[in-house]
Amino acid sequence: MSQFDFIKDIAKFGLENDQERLLQVLNGLIEHSKKTKKINFALQLQSILKDAIANQQTNGLFKVGSQKHVLREENKEISEFIIEKLTSDYRFENLVCTDKVKTDLESFIEEHKASEVLRRYDLPISNKVLFHGPSGCGKTLASYVLAGELEKMMLVINLGAIVSSKLGETSKNLAKIFKKASDDGCIIFIDEFDTLGKVRDFSQDHGEMKRVVNTILQLFDYLPQDSIVIAATNHVEMIDEALLRRFDLKVQLDLPDSTHTKELIDKTLKTGLFELDKKQSLQKIINSCKGLSYYTIQKTLITALKRSLFKLNKNEVGIKAKIDSHLWASLIKKEKAEQGYLSKS
Ligand SMILES: Nc1ncnc2c1ncn2[C@@H]1O[C@H](COP(=O)(O)OP(=O)(O)O)[C@@H](O)[C@H]1O
Ligand SMILES: [Mg+2]
Repeated sequence: MSQFDFIKDIAKFGLENDQERLLQVLNGLIEHSKKTKKINFALQLQSILKDAIANQQTNGLFKVGSQKHVLREENKEISEFIIEKLTSDYRFENLVCTDKVKTDLESFIEEHKASEVLRRYDLPISNKVLFHGPSGCGKTLASYVLAGELEKMMLVINLGAIVSSKLGETSKNLAKIFKKASDDGCIIFIDEFDTLGKVRDFSQDHGEMKRVVNTILQLFDYLPQDSIVIAATNHVEMIDEALLRRFDLKVQLDLPDSTHTKELIDKTLKTGLFELDKKQSLQKIINSCKGLSYYTIQKTLITALKRSLFKLNKNEVGIKAKIDSHLWASLIKKEKAEQGYLSKS
């Protein structure tokens, strides 16, 4: 390939927003420049790439390709109850999960895409989903995937603002948000749903808790079929039975097994810019991740990757950056030690 071919590909993939191939071509151009003795240019390009990758890590995680786009809520009356109003282009391939979870979510999406057929036969459309499971296993991510696959707007509810100490006020606030979702046919995402749907809470007026649960039951019943409620909780056992029964779909997102850990690592490294220094260490590292969440595993990998990158010798331009497997293993060990410490304390 000549330099012009590289430039043509860069223009093409850049304009098509194809990050993965753009990065591959840029890497190719670095190699090419090195071979043709344009070492300075190769170094500069390598440095631009490094910066871009560092910037792509928001919250410590890779955001290559998929994003959420934050919009503004103009309605002043409800804007304080909404943390974020967004659209997303997350897709199924962003979520690592069991086949059962995938099938459940796919059927849910299918129902909405084929809602006309169901309506013709007077069949109800599922529109209430509960994601439950330990922290960092993809509850929020799965809700972005649903919003992305369904191409619907999503309102992320601010429970802190909705829950009020004034009697009856929580129910009123909830009704306002549900009205908004009904009017716009969008998704409401309620994280930490156990805060609302608790069976009982001794620190609060029991009557008020009951009122809130009843309000939600009613709001659920009157929710139009093209609006969707997604709730998420780490404590499904805390939620009122009657409320649990109202969900059309309850999806458990659990800690990854070794196959899913491997899949997560592959997805995280999909830009092809990094590889493990010792390939034979991978299985051992995967085994050592047992008991950690997707989030934590990905975090250790990205930290290892960043630290390995900064250790990279300037002369090593063009070649894939090596992840120091020893360093990564020690980060995993540290996370597990912290987790053990936390669960004991
Ligand atoms: N099942 C998963 N598949 C792929 N990535 C995941 C998964 N679970 C978590 N992650 C990663 O960890 C981040 C945080 O996960 P999140 O969805 O917020 O977890 P939860 O809401 O269950 O606490 C995600 O943005 C993603 O980068
Ligand atoms: Mg979450």
